[in-house]
Amino acid sequence: MFPANGTELQFNSGELVFRMGDRMKVCIAYMSYYGNGKMVAEEMASLLGDAGHQITMVQVRDGGRNDLPESDLLVVGTPIRMGKIVRKTRKFVKTLNGRRYALYVTHASDIDGNKFTPTEPANDLMTYMESRGNQCVSEPLFIQVQEMKGPLEEGWRQKVADFVSSLN
Ligand SMILES: Cc1cc2nc3c(=O)[nH]c(=O)nc-3n(C[C@H](O)[C@H](O)[C@H](O)COP(=O)(O)O)c2cc1C
Repeated sequence: MFPANGTELQFNSGELVFRMGDRMKVCIAYMSYYGNGKMVAEEMASLLGDAGHQITMVQVRDGGRNDLPESDLLVVGTPIRMGKIVRKTRKFVKTLNGRRYALYVTHASDIDGNKFTPTEPANDLMTYMESRGNQCVSEPLFIQVQEMKGPLEEGWRQKVADFVSSLN
């Protein structure tokens, strides 16, 4: 029998837990200079697509977008630079309101390192998003790059899978 909505499924690997929910329209809006955040977006799209959701990917551009598709969930992906969420993303989120969303951030600094760590700017962005009536549905995902231009940290695919399984 097919499981009811809301049922948790434990897959054989024992690692991936998916919640059976309604099929969602998911928009992944990502900013990526060197392609690392784009790889994260593509991995996410693949996993969400496999789970039966309908995915649209858009690149964040200067000045925001008026043509962002309707979605049940918006995933915003962005790098941090000079201790800040990059300007294009900060401009982009000014165009958003009333959205259910989740955030992922790519970064080079250690999470508990110095003033260039990603947590504070991510929190500031989420506070701003909330002030515009957007609702965050999950803890932010932080993915580290090993050098400024990448590659992504080891084990990043599992982190993405865990993040995806937390979205509903
Ligand atoms: C000019 C510059 C400044 C950066 N500043 C930071 C920083 O303050 N903190 C940090 O964790 N990473 C920093 N990084 C690393 C970026 O976060 C990293 O290049 C990015 O996440 C890679 O993702 P992308 O390939 O999708 O652009 C910086 C990178 C560049 C090129």
